[in-house]
Amino acid sequence: MPTTTWNRHHVLSLADFTTAEYDTVLQTAASFQEVLSRRTKKVPTLQGQVVANLFFESSTRTRSSFEIAAKRLSADTLNFAAATSSMTKGETILDTAKTYLAMGTDIMVIRHREAGVPNAIAAEMDRLGVRVSVLNAGDGQHEHPSQALLDLFTICTLIDPANPRLELLKGKKIAIVGDILHSRVARSNIWSLIASGAQVHLAAPPTLLPKLFAEYFSEDTGDRSQESLVISPSSSPASPASPAPSSPSPQLFLHWQLEPALQDADFVMTLRLQKERMTAHLLPSLREYHQLFGITRAKLQLCKPNVKVLHPGPVNRGVEISSDLMDDPEFSLIQSQVTSGVAVRMALLYLLGSGKA
Ligand code: CP
Repeated sequence: MPTTTWNRHHVLSLADFTTAEYDTVLQTAASFQEVLSRRTKKVPTLQGQVVANLFFESSTRTRSSFEIAAKRLSADTLNFAAATSSMTKGETILDTAKTYLAMGTDIMVIRHREAGVPNAIAAEMDRLGVRVSVLNAGDGQHEHPSQALLDLFTICTLIDPANPRLELLKGKKIAIVGDILHSRVARSNIWSLIASGAQVHLAAPPTLLPKLFAEYFSEDTGDRSQESLVISPSSSPASPASPAPSSPSPQLFLHWQLEPALQDADFVMTLRLQKERMTAHLLPSLREYHQLFGITRAKLQLCKPNVKVLHPGPVNRGVEISSDLMDDPEFSLIQSQVTSGVAVRMALLYLLGSGKA
């Protein structure tokens, strides 16, 4: 394992992650990726610790990869699904968390459809004075830190498999396309990509990318025009840890057309249309959305020749990305993202859990 200092007790958001923390996660995940390539893919690191997956909202890849990650580290795992739990009899979220605490849980991995639930449980654990760590596995429209970290790891290991690190993305153009308004994945990715010094270009219809969105990331609303909005983030939390005086300011660009975001892009992140979070009719039709913002081979012609496409999953095939492109390993990193998820989640569990022994 890389020798490092890790003082973080919970992972709830990437908003205040430092460059050193990103690099620690990337390097630790690289070590675990090597473990996962061995014949015996298991290490005793978290033996005797209990990891509870408390999923109050549906999940396939996040829940399964946290479970396999915990098992590869030799932790004992508890899996909770709200639909078959005592919450159906009226038990509260905090009482559910305290029940898992009483069973000796060391790390709680929490997903909930309401923003802030992992923070509330972490605050309660801190108030009780117990050394339980909380990991946000996706809360409403707020954040999905482990997804953004696995996206970062997928891209960085593609650029330099031997030494993945944040600075590899400096100056790269990364387009994030789709339902940005409802996306916790986009919010966490924007924090990490801005911290890296990448040029982050958001593209969506105005209903899915309101101008106000920019103010979440910056006080400075910059240079406005009809089609695009250019933001210079006021200060990245990563900046104090690794000042880069000669590098250009990281920037965030908002576009209400796809083409300026795709032009010369190095990576394109597509996002799922989150119909379950839409409270109004925000799109005329899925067919029109695909025509205007769906990622296809033809539209990728605008990007750099070796462009790669990411999607956090689950995918609406033929809506945000064409089905053939999704399955094309020349362009699509979607399966690599899922594979990277195990190593990155092992890294997070290891970093949170190794101080508890
Ligand atoms: N990307 C993601 O969070 O997928 P799941 O909802 O399947 O966990």
